[in-house]
Amino acid sequence: MLLRAGEGARDARGAAADPSPVDALAWLRGGSHATVLVLDTPCLHGGRGLSHLGAVVAAALRDGRRHDRDLAAVLGLGPELVRSIDPTLPGAEALPAFASDASRRARMVGGDVLVLISGDTAAAVRGTGRRVAAALAPASRLRWARHGVRGAPDHLGRRRDVTGFHDGLVQPPAEAAGVGVLLRGDPRVAGGTLAALRLLRVDVERFGALTVAEQERVIGRRRADGAPLSGGGPAAELDLDAEGPDGASAVPRHAHVRAAHPRWIGAPLMLRAGYDDAGPAGGDDGGDGEDAGAGHPPRGRLFLSYQDDLRTYALTQHRLDELDALSAYTTALAGASFLVLPMAHDRPFGWSLAG
Ligand code: HEM
Repeated sequence: MLLRAGEGARDARGAAADPSPVDALAWLRGGSHATVLVLDTPCLHGGRGLSHLGAVVAAALRDGRRHDRDLAAVLGLGPELVRSIDPTLPGAEALPAFASDASRRARMVGGDVLVLISGDTAAAVRGTGRRVAAALAPASRLRWARHGVRGAPDHLGRRRDVTGFHDGLVQPPAEAAGVGVLLRGDPRVAGGTLAALRLLRVDVERFGALTVAEQERVIGRRRADGAPLSGGGPAAELDLDAEGPDGASAVPRHAHVRAAHPRWIGAPLMLRAGYDDAGPAGGDDGGDGEDAGAGHPPRGRLFLSYQDDLRTYALTQHRLDELDALSAYTTALAGASFLVLPMAHDRPFGWSLAG
């Protein structure tokens, strides 16, 4: 994970201070635009060349920051690459197969390296992503790459996703200091995290053809303001035990928020930091060549979550495959997981693994 170039906090001696969990979570959430690159990098196996990868991304960020001061990057290492460094590291195990994976092409599963560039200006983010991909070629090959975008925030800073519903409402609280999200213990990875990435096509026409009441039963929240169907205002807690006047569950059995709720898996909340899919940015398009940037509204979702244990994502995904009414409107095109190393101030990428 790389900080925004040149913006690390300093301690009393002027040396770079370790970033706080609050900083780390803010960086992981990213800006309004993103370019996601998933690369094959046999040249990095064994861990050689990680500092070169970091230097290429840092140089592109420095350049891009002339146009967007908020450019930031998250770098992740895929399971095969992690295993080649040390099979006992977190993230060494690939994600299990999911029932909803059937339609994915083999090349859209996994990958050695994730480079996620985010910022608040689409052109700067896209240009920086292109420069990184070009600078790493031909030793690294682009598997797939997509642009992502988030809807404009309302007066409360909340954004709607491709379904028209507010997304990102339920997140780990800042006071939890990264519990459930940031890795602890092993100094090689402490402060880093594990990323789950999934590219989903969303059948926006079919979902949009439902009545608002039907859509709300699919999601489990009100479309107008994001309030849970269990009652209360937009800021109310979701109450999974609440009953409607007919005695049935107020949040329907197959509602997305019920199926995805962490209560069932006994794990803390994952940090969700996804984007609406704004089309291919190079590599394989997974069988979906549409570019939302060319005047089309988004038709998919780049789901991205960060957690300290990939079982949090995998158990949730299994539950969604079994129960989630929203799954009937989505098709998985790609999926992967990555070990995101701790943030580094003034230190080369991969420093924590050296020695
Ligand atoms: C097209 C894909 C998806 C869309 C459009 C979507 C949309 C939403 C929306 C609108 C909410 C309610 C607002 C909020 O709490 O942020 C939500 C909640 C949530 N979603 Fe998704 N989601 C998608 C895929 C996924 C996937 C793949 C997972 C994990 C495997 C996931 C996990 C969650 C979780 C954990 C919550 C919070 C549940 C709670 O505690 O209330 N979502 N999602």
